[in-house]
Amino acid sequence: MKTTLKIIVAGVFACAVPLGMVHAADDAAAAAEIKKSGCLTCHSVSAKKDGPSFKSIAEKHKGKADGADLVKTQITASKEHKQHLKTKDEAQVKNVVEYILSR
Ligand code: HEC
Repeated sequence: MKTTLKIIVAGVFACAVPLGMVHAADDAAAAAEIKKSGCLTCHSVSAKKDGPSFKSIAEKHKGKADGADLVKTQITASKEHKQHLKTKDEAQVKNVVEYILSR
């Protein structure tokens, strides 16, 4: 049981580290996707509008094991947060999540 837990924890870290390293991914593409998806009506990188700034979102979720997943759900499938990314492309979605979390 303990061993299983250790393996899971190790797995989470193994995934989180490379994810952090590719965060420079493609800021320009992410910014364009965010603009195209209409997110900027309610969000900006550093100012609070209707929604929280990407900086404060990053602060809240950065470094948490499930942070990226929560953000991803929020911008692709959440029922409360109705505005979703226009793209269905996994790599692009991931890129946008990384972009937001690295502000
Ligand atoms: C109509 C206004 C509006 C639009 C458009 C909008 N958002 Fe939001 N967003 C909000 C509000 C309000 C919150 C805070 C409440 C909540 O979490 O639902 C929020 C929260 C968030 C969060 C934080 C979730 C968390 O758990 O802390 C993320 C990430 C986010 N928005 C991303 C986006 C992205 C990406 C888009 C474009 C696809 C977008 N938003 C479009 C209003 C909006």
